[in-house]
Amino acid sequence: MTDITTLEADISAAIAAAADAAALEAVRVSALGKSGSISELLKSLGGMSPDERREQGPKINGLRDRIQAAIASRKADLEAAELDARLAAERVDLTLPAPPRRKGSVHPTMQVMDEMIAVFAEMGFSVAEGPDIETDFNNFTALNFPPKHPAREMHDTFFLPEDEHGERKVLRTHTSPVQVRVMHAVNEKVPAWVANGQEPPIRVIVPGRTFRKDSDQTHTPMFHQIEGLVIDKGIHMGHLKWTLETFIARFFETSAVETRFRPHHFPFTEPSAEMDVKCDRSGGEVKIGQGEDWLEILGCGMVHPNVLRNCGLDPDVWQGFAFGCGVDRLGVLKYGMPDLRDMFASDARWLAHYGFSAFAAPNSATGLS
Ligand code: DAH
Repeated sequence: MTDITTLEADISAAIAAAADAAALEAVRVSALGKSGSISELLKSLGGMSPDERREQGPKINGLRDRIQAAIASRKADLEAAELDARLAAERVDLTLPAPPRRKGSVHPTMQVMDEMIAVFAEMGFSVAEGPDIETDFNNFTALNFPPKHPAREMHDTFFLPEDEHGERKVLRTHTSPVQVRVMHAVNEKVPAWVANGQEPPIRVIVPGRTFRKDSDQTHTPMFHQIEGLVIDKGIHMGHLKWTLETFIARFFETSAVETRFRPHHFPFTEPSAEMDVKCDRSGGEVKIGQGEDWLEILGCGMVHPNVLRNCGLDPDVWQGFAFGCGVDRLGVLKYGMPDLRDMFASDARWLAHYGFSAFAAPNSATGLS
């Protein structure tokens, strides 16, 4: 007959030595399982005499109860230890900095447009807009382009298929057609769809998308312009020159920028000029406000009498000046982007590098006055 005391000591030692739930379960099966040591003892009660059974019964049952209790207690200890280990391993360190949140940025073109608008707004200009798809009349004819002007040819202009009236609209090749839309308000013959119309005096700038069949390091088929138009009585080249020189000084945030006006030709202005800024091109980078080179940055001139007439204004009463300027180009110059085409490649890494914070919107309070 197995010595109960020895058996209890052995099983108790095995319970204490069980390092995890699986080991403890093995001990339980070897003691209390179907043919475990204690189960065998319990079975042996059946073959005993009543006296023997009376004496051994309580001992064996007591052994079973104590071992069951010891296993339960060890199981609880192991589970508590396992939980402690997990809590220690998975502890969240609240003192660590949070991972950075991905946030968008303002595209350099939009930033530059906002900066330009801020400068002109301070000079009393308001913003006018027009559609990307324009009539041939607004884009060319009203602006005094002769019927056979090369800019109308397929190689420059994106023409749309003929519409139901047999008219071929265009993707506007410049923001100048919005001049026509703004001035047309005073012409009673103007159709109702002409928006943004104003009575003179007029002082507007027109930011927007423009399109031409062109693509190289300094040209993209879609680009942005800002147009300017001033119509009033007695307007002359002096007003034009002051306005543009003031704009350039404020935009580049230095009064050191030297400018020059070079005679040029545009169908919609007379006289016409291109404005250059002095810069330094040595070292492959263009630096404004220093050096001895000239860089063309915009076209301008006095509004052609034919344009005024086409828009219903009497050139003997009203005069004006206009200008048109590439926004992306100015952004490249101010913020040093090497290739204009990158601006519209939608590369998130490029945008993260060159983009601007949405919370630094330009206005006179943020240093552009
Ligand atoms: N529309 C011209 C262009 O895209 C730029 C321009 C030149 C606009 C002279 C004007 C202007 O308003 O007066 O090349």
